[in-house]
Amino acid sequence: MVSQEYTQKFNELETPFYFYDLDLLKSTIEVALNASSKYGYILHFALKANNNDAVLETIREFGIGADCVSGNEVTKSVNMGFPPEKIAFAGVGKTDQEIITGLENNIFSFNCESLHEIEVVNEIAGQMNKVAPVAIRINPDIDPKTHKFISTGLKDSKFGINHWDFDEVAETVKSLPNIKLTGIHFHIGSQITDINVFEQLSLKVNFIQDWFDKNGFALEHINVGGGLGIDYSAPEENSIPDFEAYFAAFHNNLKLKQGQELHFELGRSLVGQCGYFITKVLYLKKGLSTEFLIVDGGMNDLLRPMLYQASHKISSLSSTGNDKVYDVVGPVCESTDVFARKVTLPESKRGDLLAFHSAGAYCEVMASTYNMRSLVTAYNSNSIFEE
Ligand code: LLP
Repeated sequence: MVSQEYTQKFNELETPFYFYDLDLLKSTIEVALNASSKYGYILHFALKANNNDAVLETIREFGIGADCVSGNEVTKSVNMGFPPEKIAFAGVGKTDQEIITGLENNIFSFNCESLHEIEVVNEIAGQMNKVAPVAIRINPDIDPKTHKFISTGLKDSKFGINHWDFDEVAETVKSLPNIKLTGIHFHIGSQITDINVFEQLSLKVNFIQDWFDKNGFALEHINVGGGLGIDYSAPEENSIPDFEAYFAAFHNNLKLKQGQELHFELGRSLVGQCGYFITKVLYLKKGLSTEFLIVDGGMNDLLRPMLYQASHKISSLSSTGNDKVYDVVGPVCESTDVFARKVTLPESKRGDLLAFHSAGAYCEVMASTYNMRSLVTAYNSNSIFEE
């Protein structure tokens, strides 16, 4: 729960805003590193989940690498002090300039998602007299059993290269002088809560890696992406995901070759639970069959409920009265600007603060200025007392 000390401070600040509990972030990272380091696994953080400076700084201090999906994320990682040799760069549509940015910074890996992209990376690396380290992103055709908008590894997906293209890719890779195939990369989806999915992925990886082995590629690393889900319905009881079970699923099923590294790109599981979205009740209004709580945060600040039908637990930080049922809605001029329907909260009044839990991943980063609203700000447990 958000402590009294923070709540008092929240009342002095202009809403809405994000708040990051850096102590919880640190504890989460420690558990993840304890669970992964016993197998020698290497962790990257997916910046797309959160690129807040204080969050990145905390993650970088633990020696975790970066996983980027744009040239700007690569530049940001470098500027935040992530060592280039720990930066992986994925994405189906890297521009020439983004490839140049990666090459100039001598990053760890270009995770290439099509044959065409591999050819372009080779060409640009040639012009710069460099050899680009490439990992081929493979589409393993596994159902991650998550929301369809965040499934990325099924055979009709735009991501990765399918197995029927392997022969052609292998032949091309062997003929290109300015790339070096260093690994294979997978990422099958996000918010995956069934550990069995990761066991299936591991078995598929063994099969695929045997193919590369037989075709003369000694892969230095395998990257299995991210995907581990968090508990949105009980964020306080389960504030840290089960990293032990997650890494054990790979350890028990994925066969690494001698000297081969296993890399992970964790996003949500590291930062999801340390973030809160804080908003204020502006108005109460009776609807036909419900009462609306109209708050000052909108879909432009927190889009997940509208885009993925995601449910973030909502707590009142102000009221303790009898329970009432509300529809919590934002001020944006769209009927989809509804955070939650029929949610039970203590009887609320104008000026009450509400906290949306589990808002550390894919929340602040997806904010916009739609309706010419100000871009949402963020505080953290260190900075807040300086305000
Ligand atoms: N690696 C790659 C190549 C990815 O595409 C992603 C996420 C990750 C790693 C990190 O995955 P995670 O550990 O966070 O599941 N906006 C959506 C989620 C999109 C995920 C995109 N890729 C949401 O709010 O649920």
